[in-house]
Amino acid sequence: MENMKLNNGYMIPEIGYGTWQSPDSEVTVNGVKAAIACGYRHIDTAAAYKNEESVGEGIKESGIARKDLFVTSKVWNTQRGYEKTIAAFEKTLSDLDLDYLDLYLIHWPASKKDYENWEEINLETWRAMTDLYKAGKIKAIGVSNFKPHHLEALMKTEVKPMVNQIEFHPGFMQEETVKYCRENGILVEAWSPLGTGRMLTNPDLQEIASHYGKSVAQICIRWCIQHDVLPLPKSVTPSRIEENSNVFDFEINAEDMQRIDALENFGGSGLDPDEVDF
Ligand code: A2P
Repeated sequence: MENMKLNNGYMIPEIGYGTWQSPDSEVTVNGVKAAIACGYRHIDTAAAYKNEESVGEGIKESGIARKDLFVTSKVWNTQRGYEKTIAAFEKTLSDLDLDYLDLYLIHWPASKKDYENWEEINLETWRAMTDLYKAGKIKAIGVSNFKPHHLEALMKTEVKPMVNQIEFHPGFMQEETVKYCRENGILVEAWSPLGTGRMLTNPDLQEIASHYGKSVAQICIRWCIQHDVLPLPKSVTPSRIEENSNVFDFEINAEDMQRIDALENFGGSGLDPDEVDF
């Protein structure tokens, strides 16, 4: 797997191992170990996934050198604001049993549905992220589920976000957000690149996949990469973990890329950052 470069020059491996909905148990310890054994060097977790201890254990048992791994976590919605974010970060480090993170993200923006001063809250959280970054405890910082109107205030601060992790898969491309990020040098990462599995039975994707002798999962992951969006496929099944990393021996042609782009908006999670109630 190759690396991509963030806007601060830090390198990030171009596929990440996703762990949303992976349990805090041996299942995740073994999943992380299987991922590292077959070549993943990028692991994505979050405090809200409640599996950081298992992820950390998997990293430790894999025997990989810390410097060869890229680890991401996220600050949860109840921990917004300066002091709480600093404390949440320390708890995450301790749960993962690491002494720095490669990437730390604000998991969801505060939005106007819940807060009159939503912009100020996001800026305070960002100020904490920036201080942790400047102290060298995080190599890169960013956000998740931010739309352009959430990002605007952050773009005027001293350190701009390096990453925005959003829902992105065939049928749900969030064009406006992706365009904004691209214009502002923010790398887009895809959560649920397989639509949490919903893509896998789509007949159009199945037909395209058979044409390349690949699985629908591999098509979705390759399609993200060809859009310069960094996919974070989740699986706890060793054979699928490996399958999801085998996407570098083929290329989706321009016509099929367009065909996938044109798929009707299907299979979105429905989690709109301005509407969610968590
Ligand atoms: P499991 O973890 O049981 O292997 P997403 O990354 O979009 O959130 O999708 C994750 C879901 O897709 C999980 O239910 C995972 O199941 C399943 N999955 C991941 N990779 C594959 C694959 N290559 N083939 C079939 N299902 C997959």
